[in-house]
Amino acid sequence: MSSESNVPKWSDKYMIGIPDVDFQHQYFLRLIQRLEKRFESGMDSHITLRHFNEILKYADFHFQSEENLMLMYNYPGYQTHHNLHIDLLDEIGTTIYYYQLKKKSTTEVIEMLVKWFLDHTVEEDIKFGDFMKDSNMVIKD
Ligand SMILES: [Fe+2]
Repeated sequence: MSSESNVPKWSDKYMIGIPDVDFQHQYFLRLIQRLEKRFESGMDSHITLRHFNEILKYADFHFQSEENLMLMYNYPGYQTHHNLHIDLLDEIGTTIYYYQLKKKSTTEVIEMLVKWFLDHTVEEDIKFGDFMKDSNMVIKD
């Protein structure tokens, strides 16, 4: 019997108002939910590690995508935001390393990813969404 999830369900309150970014954030949360399930299932650690690496790769892709939009629309907070992304990628990479050494528990891993998702999305990405709204700019393809 599985225990209660520590990963929140997607909610509109996480939306920043930029469809591509919101779509990617939703999928990112889904990957964290999936990793938690892999941890709970006691699945082969090699497979679990692959799921963990999937999160790292998706985060890298997502940050690049988000930053490209920031550059396209001359977002003034770009450099600060870019630095935060570098720190986050570093934190995930380090967490994977410690997880492999069994120096981070699965609970700590999930807590880190959830905290990161919530803090970064709600406190930082929202600033970009607000900038786009305040400037009356709409993302075009
Ligand atoms: Fe971001």
